[in-house]
Amino acid sequence: MSAHGSPIPMTSRKSGALKGEAHVPGDKSISHRSLILGAMAIGRTEISGLLEGQDVLDTAKAMEAFGAKVTDHGSGQWSVDGVGVGGFQEPETVIDCGNSGTGVRLIMGAMSTHNITATFTGDASLNKRPMSRITDPITEFGATSYGRSGGRLPMTIVGAKSPVPVRYSVPMPSAQVKSAVLLAGLNAPGETIVIEKEATRDHTERMLTGFGADVSVETSSEGRIITLKGYPELKPQTITVPRDPSSAAFPVCAALICEGSDVLVPNIGLNPTRAGLFTTLREMGANLTYENERSEGGEPVADLRARFSPDLKGIEVPPERAASMIDEYPILSVVASFAQGKTIMRGVRELRVKESDRIDAMARGLRANGVEIEEGEDWWIVTGRGHGEVQGGGTCATFLDHRIAMSFLILGMASESPVHIDDGGAIATSFPIFETLMGELGAQITRNNH
Ligand code: S3P
Repeated sequence: MSAHGSPIPMTSRKSGALKGEAHVPGDKSISHRSLILGAMAIGRTEISGLLEGQDVLDTAKAMEAFGAKVTDHGSGQWSVDGVGVGGFQEPETVIDCGNSGTGVRLIMGAMSTHNITATFTGDASLNKRPMSRITDPITEFGATSYGRSGGRLPMTIVGAKSPVPVRYSVPMPSAQVKSAVLLAGLNAPGETIVIEKEATRDHTERMLTGFGADVSVETSSEGRIITLKGYPELKPQTITVPRDPSSAAFPVCAALICEGSDVLVPNIGLNPTRAGLFTTLREMGANLTYENERSEGGEPVADLRARFSPDLKGIEVPPERAASMIDEYPILSVVASFAQGKTIMRGVRELRVKESDRIDAMARGLRANGVEIEEGEDWWIVTGRGHGEVQGGGTCATFLDHRIAMSFLILGMASESPVHIDDGGAIATSFPIFETLMGELGAQITRNNH
């Protein structure tokens, strides 16, 4: 939906060759964390390249409600004057995190060990998503939660008066849960320990270390064990947010499936906990290369060059790779539709509880455009039709999910008939310049006036 709440129906037509450079926005995960950790440091954190998507803007507003001063200096330059660990004040109003699971879950974790009460809500998508994965561990710290049935928002958290440290084994692969526990542990005494069986994105661990917290990570037979010492004094940082690999996925995948394309996507963060899609695409036979590989701010970065790839083959994606590409399965399923043979995706139960049930949303929309899908609770298979064989012509429901909306618009760029979506409003949560950027490369994406 748009900011005014009315849906934005859109259509994507077959495009010619895509050419040029795609400068995608800053990383969403790192942008949220920059604001939250900046708010928990003492002094001014300077951030450049912040993603100015609605999700991150909602987190900025929330940090102000908890007492930090967040300033937009223009052109992606922001600053946060933090209140220090333990310094959050009680918000005067309800915290509305909009569409953002990352925002609400990380903030609930961070405030749960403060002696304050806060009430959280979100949009129709966020208010359906499970929050017990956060309320379970924060209860162990001593917080109390009052939510709707099934642990849904709106929800009030009464923070712990005298927090105790926690040793918590995260039951599902989730960087949000891991991060919420670590952020809660900042304002608890002693050592908070988080164990994750499968490695998920590690931005929180890296950034906490950068802000001066004492964090150690060891790998054992149980998985990754992360230990954080409570009550650190976080020191303000100067942060350059790398460009988002999850946003880069859209122009990259569009170039692979549109005849004659050659697109450069510069400065993309290739942290191994995020780069699974690109490995998978290369295994499928994509003409995708990393140029100018380098390290920036401790993170691997490269320019991605994607060229039209007429001979893509379906593959079985290793389930242990799922966490490193969890947000990229929708767009992978679009590429898989233009490959020969089946693309098999297993171990992806978490896709059912994202901004939408992403297996269901993609299955419905791909079927409406002539692509065959089989699905189970934690797996799905796309039977590729090959280049030039995807019919299109369907209208896809997007369920307030930005990645579903963008994926179907990319589908339309290489389908025989135009592909329609019911609502592209959610794209602004993570990739507000998507239409302009894709249009400049040569896409024919329009808003339907009716
Ligand atoms: C995120 C973690 C992932 C991902 C989300 C961003 C993060 O969610 O899907 O878009 O920034 O920590 P889960 O923790 O639910 O896997």
